Amino acid sequence: MEFWDPGQVVGILIVAVVVLISAYIYFCWTLVRCDSKADLTGKVAIVTGANTGIGYHTALDLAKRNARVILACRNKEKAEQARDEIIAASQNKSVVVQIVDLCLMKSVRDFVGRIVAEERRLDILVNNAGVVSAGKPREVTDEGFETLFAANYFGPFLLTNLLLDLMKKSTPSRIVNVSSVVNKFGTIDFNNLQAEKSFQYHARYFDSKLAFVLFTRELAKRLEGSGVTANVLHPGSVYTDLLRHLNPLIRIPILVFMRFFCRSPEEGAQTSIYLAVSEDVAEISGKYFVDCDIQEKEANPVSRNMELAAKLWKVSAELTGLESN
Ligand SMILES: NC(=O)c1ccc[n+]([C@@H]2O[C@H](COP(=O)([O-])OP(=O)(O)OC[C@H]3O[C@@H](n4cnc5c(N)ncnc54)[C@H](OP(=O)(O)O)[C@@H]3O)[C@@H](O)[C@H]2O)c1
Repeated sequence: MEFWDPGQVVGILIVAVVVLISAYIYFCWTLVRCDSKADLTGKVAIVTGANTGIGYHTALDLAKRNARVILACRNKEKAEQARDEIIAASQNKSVVVQIVDLCLMKSVRDFVGRIVAEERRLDILVNNAGVVSAGKPREVTDEGFETLFAANYFGPFLLTNLLLDLMKKSTPSRIVNVSSVVNKFGTIDFNNLQAEKSFQYHARYFDSKLAFVLFTRELAKRLEGSGVTANVLHPGSVYTDLLRHLNPLIRIPILVFMRFFCRSPEEGAQTSIYLAVSEDVAEISGKYFVDCDIQEKEANPVSRNMELAAKLWKVSAELTGLESN
């Protein structure tokens, strides 16, 4: 049996360590932060999925800027804990919880009903919530919606549309949609929007994130001249609990890697915060952002097909019952 020369082993180890350290330095060096000092006194913001991860840090930042922040979450206990932590960290008492499950269109309508009844204005809407559902089988709600696509696309589609009147009364106002780089691998199959024909959670996630970019393009077009902007972003690779449903044997090694080579949730929130507050983007709408910068070449070219965007809008309006409003 042949053994490696100890010198060779040491050489390989040194190269591996140098590569890892270089990757880490590159990773730290390329981090971008929102440097806006904007104060949001008197403004109202909604952040969906604000109890954890990127959404939590987006909400915390907006609270530190003195906005009234509504944490739009599905789990009351987790949301109230996040609210208490955000109030303690920001010294802003105007942070409240409103429950919404984005998979359920009735829940979305009830949520909007409460917002419209209780809030005078809405300046910022951050559609942050999302699921990967990795490892879970296809699930369908009583209303007939496949849950991954509903949480990532149909729910936010309906929520945003139902809040538009309030946002138009509060101009200038901003809609910030959190997509993902994986929109590049997505397709829109109108015969499989509820995963009737096939369900693969990773493909569904990619497709839902492409749908979110197409939605943002069409929304921005429809909002031209209204004083409401809509932009979409990829937050980077971020160390969060997004893969919570994966088999631990796969998830734990991925999380260990992510801990060192991915952004913290606070770092991952920077582009969302930038689009929500920065003066630089006050007039920009319908664009795809990464690292606080327009990066259209990073978006799926299909996301610029406005015929497809219009068709998806029409089908989504029918399915969610938006047209009957
Ligand atoms: N992490 C990354 O590397 C990465 C990369 C690209 C894009 N993104 C996107 O960034 C966004 C935030 O993700 P994250 O990494 O911060 O993940 P996370 O820590 O898992 O947070 C996701 C949030 O969405 C909420 N949510 C999920 N389904 C919901 C529903 N049906 N109704 C209401 N809220 C719901 C979750 O609530 P519960 O706590 O109750 O489950 C949680 O608050 C997502 O849209 C994700 O797709 C993340």
